[in-house]
Amino acid sequence: MPTNTAAWIPARNRPLEVGPAPYPTPGPDQIVIRNRAVAVNPLDWVIQVAGRVAYSWLKYPFVLGTDVAGEVVEVGSAVTRFRPGDRVLALTVGVERDINSAAQGAFQHYTATSEMLASPIPDDLSHTDAAVLPLALATAASALFQPSQIHLRLPAARPALTGETVLIWGGSTSVGSNAIQLAAAAGYDVITTASPRNAGPLKELGAGQVFDYRSPTAEADIVDAFRGRTLAGALAIGPGSGPACIRIAGAARGNRFVTTATAPVTFEKGFSLGRTITGMAGGMAGLQLSARRHGVRTKFVNGAGLRKNEVGPAIFRDFLPAALAEGRYRIAPPATVVGDSLADLQHAMDQQREGVSATKLVVSL
Ligand SMILES: NC(=O)c1ccc[n+]([C@@H]2O[C@H](COP(=O)([O-])OP(=O)(O)OC[C@H]3O[C@@H](n4cnc5c(N)ncnc54)[C@H](OP(=O)(O)O)[C@@H]3O)[C@@H](O)[C@H]2O)c1
Repeated sequence: MPTNTAAWIPARNRPLEVGPAPYPTPGPDQIVIRNRAVAVNPLDWVIQVAGRVAYSWLKYPFVLGTDVAGEVVEVGSAVTRFRPGDRVLALTVGVERDINSAAQGAFQHYTATSEMLASPIPDDLSHTDAAVLPLALATAASALFQPSQIHLRLPAARPALTGETVLIWGGSTSVGSNAIQLAAAAGYDVITTASPRNAGPLKELGAGQVFDYRSPTAEADIVDAFRGRTLAGALAIGPGSGPACIRIAGAARGNRFVTTATAPVTFEKGFSLGRTITGMAGGMAGLQLSARRHGVRTKFVNGAGLRKNEVGPAIFRDFLPAALAEGRYRIAPPATVVGDSLADLQHAMDQQREGVSATKLVVSL
């Protein structure tokens, strides 16, 4: 049996420490992946700095991380789609409340995950590029396609055009870049926001119009852009995006539904845990009140929500493998490789927390 090593978080608020870890045993529907690249997400450092409020159920020491790419080394007894040696990307869900398992965290050499959260990747797609996608793709898909969320049509190779428009606030985030591609692949027009320097690449992903979210007239300009259009729903990503999307959706015709991906509190440097706990409850209640006032429905999305319904297989099995192989789906935002060992992950998380623009930080292993 191979020996495993992990970048452990030993307790809340503690830096990662590299050390031995058990080699994971796959459940019947799981695969074990030898990780060759892992990506970092805001979720990783949010749990690290705010573990009392964010994923408070986790049992420490724990292994964080949700995004892996590598080779399958073992498959469970009921697995049908993969064999040892296959190159894959996968979402790992160890932090979810009902899983709570270090064996399913990404920040280690070997990780177990459900075969339904993995996709084969083409030979010419590097592991470092493939690791960009899993959580951002899953969050975008959970927001756009779940029946309990915006509930768009699913993406397809040759989608019928719906004539409807999705608003994606925060298009240059990792989640946003995937949401633009998925919505376009499902036959929707896309209106999005980003810094002006990121507008060109977002149009290449399928956005029709890109507005600068820092412009004082951004909201009014987007309301104008929706005149004569039918809103299919809005996905709010980034600080302040929820209230803005609710106001815009309230002024639009169509499906006035806003899915929010970003918590209504900040975990930036200098945040206070006490203020965050009260701010979280107040922020959520405030969003609901504002939504009601504007005749809008709103919900927060769990990025791993798709693992519990048909959206998971629709994306990781039915859509993504062919879309990647045929060049219909892009790796966006592009990866920035910031290390080549588990020991580099703490720095990668710190760098993510400092802020990135239209890139995904990846560590190769
Ligand atoms: N609910 C979930 O399960 C879930 C899962 C994944 C992520 N998230 C959340 O989704 C958000 C995005 O995550 P990510 O990993 O995709 O982020 P990311 O890639 O780290 O986001 C970086 C981008 O944020 C953009 N940005 C900064 N402030 C913004 C604002 N006020 N409005 C719109 N965009 C803004 C910047 O755009 P420019 O450089 O163009 O200015 C930058 O490109 C985070 O809040 C994260 O916590 C939630």
